[in-house]
This record gives sequence, C-alpha cells and structure tokens, in this order.
Amino acid sequence: MHPAQRSIRQRIALEGPLTVAALMEEALAGRNGYYRDNDPLGVEGDFITAPEVSQMFGELIGLWCVDTWQRLGSPASFHLVEMGPGRGTLMADALRAARVAPAFLAAKQLHLVEINEALQRKQAEKLHEHTPRWHTTLAEVADGPMILIANELFDALPIHQLEMTAQGWRERVVALNGDTLQFGLAAPGPALGLLRPAHKAAETGAIAEVSPASIGLVDAIARRIVADNGAALIVDYGPAESGLGDSFQALKRHRYHAPLEELGAADLTAHVDFGALKAAAEEAGAQVFGPVTQGDFLRALGIELRADMLAKKSDLATTEILRRQVHRLIAPEQMGRLFKAIGLAGPALDTDRLGGLAGL
Ligand SMILES: C[S@@+](CC[C@H](N)C(=O)[O-])C[C@H]1O[C@@H](n2cnc3c(N)ncnc32)[C@H](O)[C@@H]1O
Repeated sequence: MHPAQRSIRQRIALEGPLTVAALMEEALAGRNGYYRDNDPLGVEGDFITAPEVSQMFGELIGLWCVDTWQRLGSPASFHLVEMGPGRGTLMADALRAARVAPAFLAAKQLHLVEINEALQRKQAEKLHEHTPRWHTTLAEVADGPMILIANELFDALPIHQLEMTAQGWRERVVALNGDTLQFGLAAPGPALGLLRPAHKAAETGAIAEVSPASIGLVDAIARRIVADNGAALIVDYGPAESGLGDSFQALKRHRYHAPLEELGAADLTAHVDFGALKAAAEEAGAQVFGPVTQGDFLRALGIELRADMLAKKSDLATTEILRRQVHRLIAPEQMGRLFKAIGLAGPALDTDRLGGLAGL
C-alpha cells in the first residue's frame, strides 16, 4: 500500500471522514503525497503537459512575458515567477525566446514556486544559468513588480464537492467502510459560502465544486499585482464559466482511474472554475483578460506562424512533427478548447489586450 494511502486511512480512522479537499491535499501535497518527490510528467509518466508537447508553447509565453513587461513600463528589476514549473521546460523555452529582449532578461529575477524536490532538481538542471530561487509558497517571494505564470497548477489545488440532496446541500466526504474507502455525505462546512450564482439552479444529485485554495491563491496574486505593478497568466483546463458537474478524477499512466483507488500513486485533479478565478481577481481590484480557449490564445500569439518559421529550417519528418504538435495544442478536440488562458493585471496597465487575451 502506498504510504499516502496508509496515512489517509489512519487519519480517517482517528479523525473521521475527510472532505474531498482534505483528501486531495494529503494525497498530493502531504508528507508522502504524489507531488512530493516524483516526476509524473512525460510519455513514461502519468500525463503530458503543453510545454512537454512542444517548445513553441513556452517560446510564445516567453514573448507574452516580454510584451507584458514592456506594457508594465519595462521595470528595471522585477520578479519573474513560475508556480508549479514541472521540469522547467516552459521557463527554459520562454527565456530562450526572450533573448530578443536583453533588457528584459537583465531585469528579471527568477523565482520558482515548487513543492516537489524531484522536479526542483530537474528545474535546476535546465535553468541554472538564470540563478533561480526556489520557494514553496508565493508568500516567500519578496514584494515588487511581478510577472507570474502558472500552467496546470490550479487543477492540482484541492476542491470541495457539494451535492444537492432533498435536504439541501451536503458536503461529499471520504469515509472508511471496513477496509474500503468510499464517498459519503456530511453537513456542509464553510465551503458552502463559495457557491456561485450558477450553482443555485442545482437539482437533486447535482455536484458543485469550489476551491478555497484556488480562490485564495488568485486573490493573493491579484493583490500583489495591484499593489506592486504586475501581471499574471494562468493556463489550465476547465470551463470558462462556473457550472455544475463532478470533475474529480485520478490520472495514472495516461489513463483515468476512480479517484480513491491509487491515492499517492496517481495524480488527483479537478477542472478549474475560471468563472470563480475571474470573480476573485476582479474583487481584489485586478483587471482580467479572458478567459479564452488555449487554441485562440496560441493562435493570437502566432503559433501557426512560428511553426511555419521552424518548418522552413526543417526536413519533412520534422515539419510533420511540428504540424502534429500545433494540432495537439490548438485543435478543439485536443487541448485547444478544454484548456483556457486568463490574464490578470494591476490597474496601472493601460491596454485592452494582454498578448492574445482581450479585456472586457
Ligand atoms: C501538472 S504539473 C505541471 C507542470 C508544468 N507547469 C508543466 O506545464 O509542465 C503541476 C506542477 O505543480 C507543482 N505543484 C503541485 N502542487 C503544488 C503546490 N501546492 N505549490 C506549488 N507547486 C505545486 C507540481 O510539483 C508540478 O510541478
């Protein structure tokens, strides 16, 4: 039995049923959790992310950062922060593309917010020339102007699940029945207060998901960029608007599993509610751009042009690989529609577009 599975069972035996959020937190980020000392990425791992699909993803985001830095008034020194940087691939590609702007490279201080020691080592290999500093929370990054990137971080942050019953909302919890972990229902906790207007139409059996951890993080990012000048780009999968539905799932070796089966040994994720992120950022005083689909975002940043440029220098086989990579990133039935990008900026930023993200 995986040590995370064992400690979760012990905790339930001692404390009683856990909320889905407490279970996710322990299974992913707890002492023996999935994200503590394990590289889950790539063909050999459990899943592949956009920067691992193609170098073009990070390159275009690097150019987005340069453009955003200029719109912020080209601060002479700023924090370039990536949260959940995985293998460091996105940031390495971004900083290579940013060589077109030496002043940007000279001004940036690189910060990586990462809880995973195995991935920190890989990030160090790829990014040592940029002398990154590592942190386990954003709060450890000093004040000052900031550009922050997070790709596929928010889907790993804990969610609460609330289920509509004949007696009203109840919280989904995980309990032990003999030796078996199973879902049950309990009186709802404070997560109830995060339900969105779109959840009010729920019929019996409907599930609503809310994530205090995600809302808290977006609020912290937004407050910093409002106070100190800055911008943020969040890319992840989930609906553009809040809605109902059960998106809690486990991913192992590129396959979906029942969430309670492989605790600690599989990734646990849920869709990101971009409607909730947007509302929280606006409440904290930030300007919000998007969300737009990843397909629209990357097209607006010129991914097709970039692929054509790379193809000109390539043989036929490489050109075909580039074509497939672009398809995977932007085609609606691949990552193009389910994934969304949202931009946040402080009020000082005077623009109606932030890279490929339109303001409202
Ligand atoms: C799905 S991976 C995405 C990696 C990378 N951004 C990419 O696109 O390839 C999630 C990343 O977030 C990190 N992570 C998970 N939970 C975290 C947390 N609470 N704080 C900071 N990083 C976290 C993981 O270790 C990993 O680097």
